[in-house]
Amino acid sequence: MRKKRETLKDGTKVLIRDLHYEYLDKLMKFYRSLPVEDRVYLKVDVTKRKVVEQRMKLNEEGTFFRILALHDDEIIGDGMFEIFKEEWRKHQGELRVIVARPFQRKGLGMLMFRELHSLAMKKDVDKIVVKMMKPQKGAINICKKLGFHKETVIPNYVWDQADEPQDLVIMTCKPKDLWRELEHSYSDSDWQRCR
Ligand SMILES: CC(C)(COP(=O)(O)OP(=O)(O)OC[C@H]1O[C@@H](n2cnc3c(N)ncnc32)[C@H](O)[C@@H]1OP(=O)(O)O)[C@@H](O)C(=O)NCCC(=O)NCCS
Repeated sequence: MRKKRETLKDGTKVLIRDLHYEYLDKLMKFYRSLPVEDRVYLKVDVTKRKVVEQRMKLNEEGTFFRILALHDDEIIGDGMFEIFKEEWRKHQGELRVIVARPFQRKGLGMLMFRELHSLAMKKDVDKIVVKMMKPQKGAINICKKLGFHKETVIPNYVWDQADEPQDLVIMTCKPKDLWRELEHSYSDSDWQRCR
């Protein structure tokens, strides 16, 4: 079991750890507390326990990796990295991160990207893909900051949780290039001093 203590930009202490089944109740509490604006653009309806439970089972397949960020034993961030199983895409992995509103813009998203990125490196993934709906500005900006390239925008390709059509934005990067960016952000930030 991996566990790591980290300090956010404002001094908040967090624990980053693997997701385990015993966290299901806390995970539901976290998802249900997300504001609609953050939840509506997610791939699945995370307020449904059955949906969340089914996705937790994917962890057992060895191609789906989940991490959590906890503060005072409550979940404040959720991250996942999925390596595609199909032959033609098995060199690619998709990364997703969600951070609770009160903890956004404190560097937690970056920390979780870094953890999932190091997993991608270990698994010899050649390309990291992030898929977002156009209104997910925070996600698009964090990816831009880390040097992801915008590959394409497919108009009205997906529906959000309110059944509204949305443009799908696909961004990618090579894990080796992302590593350079992460190293750079860490050595340049004030945050380095309080870690
Ligand atoms: C995307 C998300 C995970 C970012 O998490 P975070 O903890 O706020 O990110 P960080 O604090 O590490 O931000 C790193 C950088 O990304 C950019 N960024 C992050 N959120 C931003 C926002 N809302 N607007 C503009 N830039 C933003 C900034 O450049 C920021 O650096 P700065 O704060 O020093 O300016 C968070 O906004 C979120 O959970 N959104 C809702 C769910 C979602 O869209 N998930 C993405 C699915 S892949």
